[in-house]
Amino acid sequence: MNTLITGAAGFVGSHLSERLLEAGEMVRGVDCYTPYYPRARKEQNLEGILGHPRFESVSADLLDAPIEPLLDGIDVVYHLAGQPGVRPSWGSEFATYVRCNIDATQRLLEACRSSTVSKLVYSSSSSVYGDAESLPTPEDAIPRPVSPYGVTKLAAEHLCELYRTVHGLPTTSLRLFSVYGPRQRPDMAFARLVRAAIRGDTFTLYGDGEQTRDFTFVADAVQGLDRASRSEWCGVANIGGGARTSMNEVIGIVESLCGPVHVVRLRAQDGDARHTAADTSIARAAFGYAPSTSLVDGLAAMVEWERAHMEVAA
Ligand SMILES: NC(=O)c1ccc[n+]([C@@H]2O[C@H](COP(=O)([O-])OP(=O)(O)OC[C@H]3O[C@@H](n4cnc5c(N)ncnc54)[C@H](O)[C@@H]3O)[C@@H](O)[C@H]2O)c1
Repeated sequence: MNTLITGAAGFVGSHLSERLLEAGEMVRGVDCYTPYYPRARKEQNLEGILGHPRFESVSADLLDAPIEPLLDGIDVVYHLAGQPGVRPSWGSEFATYVRCNIDATQRLLEACRSSTVSKLVYSSSSSVYGDAESLPTPEDAIPRPVSPYGVTKLAAEHLCELYRTVHGLPTTSLRLFSVYGPRQRPDMAFARLVRAAIRGDTFTLYGDGEQTRDFTFVADAVQGLDRASRSEWCGVANIGGGARTSMNEVIGIVESLCGPVHVVRLRAQDGDARHTAADTSIARAAFGYAPSTSLVDGLAAMVEWERAHMEVAA
């Protein structure tokens, strides 16, 4: 299988690249190294696969690069490129979210229409739900994002559905729930927490810590992306870790692994949902999604990775 991964140098994209190469696939990875976090971190993400005979790294921006050459010979597209993060998506930064999450997706979908692509899997987000009325939340819940980021992810998801229903392009949008693991983006809570615990720094917690998330280990999220791409099923599906845990509980687990953490509590930020939980019935039935990593094991893997890579600045 010839695959294109957009956002390949990112946190999830680099793990997906590794998994597909291990499975024997050809991977063309495209990224433009946006300044959302340091380029050095993204280059480090690719360290294990640069030079692999079946990995082609392309530095290109989906907003202005010709897309057709990127799709040449490609069977499956995993569209992970985007501007992440709920809190910075307010104000003037919103324009970046519109461009990277909506405009880039539309350019890619349009180019896919006249290509050999037989499946496009899009990394949507649990942020489309906002403060959902029911937990765990099924896909047919009315989406009400509470952040501008969530609005752009929902818009891109609708574009994927439009190109599927109007133009017959087989697309699947996976609503990923709080992905964590080694190499997690440095702005995300687990990465900041583990780093603070190991270095003895302060960890800033937004809110009272009783907010809960359905945390998904990155290998499980990647399994979902992989299995969805190999299935004929198309549509929208949740990808979660299988349990809902509060940030206070997460801090307790990290303290049991690393020792006491100095936590500074600030008020909850605009854009943060109070609780998230994925109903993964559709993903399980449609393409056999089965998350298998416990939060304790996943956090232990993060701690181990952070200890081995302390020299790279966040
Ligand atoms: N990490 C999570 O918990 C999570 C949860 C839900 C959804 N998602 C989605 O999954 C995707 C990957 O998330 P991540 O955490 O790995 O983020 P990330 O920032 O580590 O990776 C995204 C990559 O996309 C690249 N990129 C952005 N705009 C681009 C463009 N116009 N052209 C080419 N490359 C571009 C960036 O340089 C970056 O390397 C994102 O679309 C994000 O919205 C992530």
